[in-house]
Amino acid sequence: MDGLLEGKCVVVGVCGGIAAYKAVDVVSRLKKHKAEVHVIMTESAVKFVAPLTFQSISGNPVTSDMFSEPKKWNVEHISLARKADIMVIAPATANILGKVCAGIADDMLSTTIMATNAPVLFVPAMNHAMYENAIVQQNISKLGSLGYLFMEPDTGLMAAEGEYGKGRLPEPQAIVERILREVGRAKDMEGKRVLVTAGPTREPIDPVRFISNHSSGKMGYAIAEAAIKRGARVDLITGPVSIPKPQLANVINVNTAEEMHKAVFERYQQQDVLIMVAAVADYRCKNIEGRKIKKAGESLTLELVKNPDIAADLGKVKGDRILVGFGAETHDLEKNAVLKLNSKNMDIIAANDVTQDGAGFGTDTNIVKLFKRDGSVVELPKMSKREVAESILNEIVKILSEKK
Ligand code: C5P
Repeated sequence: MDGLLEGKCVVVGVCGGIAAYKAVDVVSRLKKHKAEVHVIMTESAVKFVAPLTFQSISGNPVTSDMFSEPKKWNVEHISLARKADIMVIAPATANILGKVCAGIADDMLSTTIMATNAPVLFVPAMNHAMYENAIVQQNISKLGSLGYLFMEPDTGLMAAEGEYGKGRLPEPQAIVERILREVGRAKDMEGKRVLVTAGPTREPIDPVRFISNHSSGKMGYAIAEAAIKRGARVDLITGPVSIPKPQLANVINVNTAEEMHKAVFERYQQQDVLIMVAAVADYRCKNIEGRKIKKAGESLTLELVKNPDIAADLGKVKGDRILVGFGAETHDLEKNAVLKLNSKNMDIIAANDVTQDGAGFGTDTNIVKLFKRDGSVVELPKMSKREVAESILNEIVKILSEKK
């Protein structure tokens, strides 16, 4: 009884799949962490596991049918939706994913999901062919881009069919660990100082024009937010972006690469971890015109000079700080990533092929491979930037604990 979830309310949604029985173990583990747990079952889930089982283990009444329960439960979906610190749908069937994706709210579970402002974590489990179905995959991708959280199913022998494939519910322990990371007090970066660069830089041409790129800042901001949640103190040095600033981050706004370089070098010494996510312009104008350049001849030549490489400069002085970089690539991903990892003296480089659908600038998802100093590679599937952030921080936490 470690109380890591004490004071937290977890609403567990159980759908009708063979893995529903594993949700009993999830609830039991959540109780051991002292969470308040409420279970909502779909009509078909009740055919797999008796509500009484969940009621006994959670210590709370189990809701399934919106209308046949005592009258006061007609508003239960609102009260549970408000009460929840997180909703966890395990197992999540193709059916519930499809319903939520389409905005259908026709039973207690789908209505509560629709009504909540808490994070919703879907843990899909289904036959592997269903999981691979293009509609299901599209729904997952859409829900992911809307901010719903997902765990990947495990690959293995499927209980019902005796077939091998991807679609098994992850182990209850893994599900609970994920919940702990989302809302628990498992602050594995407590006391650590993290500096993140994010967004594009703007290199002025004249008083009204600049050179920049399509970086939205979403990836860097997601990392800053996730690190704060894990207990880190975060300095976020950001180029101009139009997304909300993470609460509790110390935000430093800059425009040019030189300003970003200065801001980073004023602060890097106090840090434990340096994460360079900004898409820094490699070149700037040699001369910035004091007055707006007037339209004149058929062509105009701008002379550009090289900007400082912030990550590379940090690599030279980083000491035992952990340095993480990003690499947006259009070709030779692995070769370029490893080259950058070594030349900039990084500990991890997160490389993405920006030509792939669902990866790179502006999107809510990313497809990333993590190349580590020790030569190992972590290949992540397409996931929300928030989840990519968690995966990168997991690797950083591992390195931090090895350094102890
Ligand atoms: O060499 P490239 O620009 O592709 O390297 C990408 C990595 O280096 C990213 O982590 C980016 O934030 C960082 N970088 C930097 N300063 C630059 C250029 C890139 O910190 N001037």
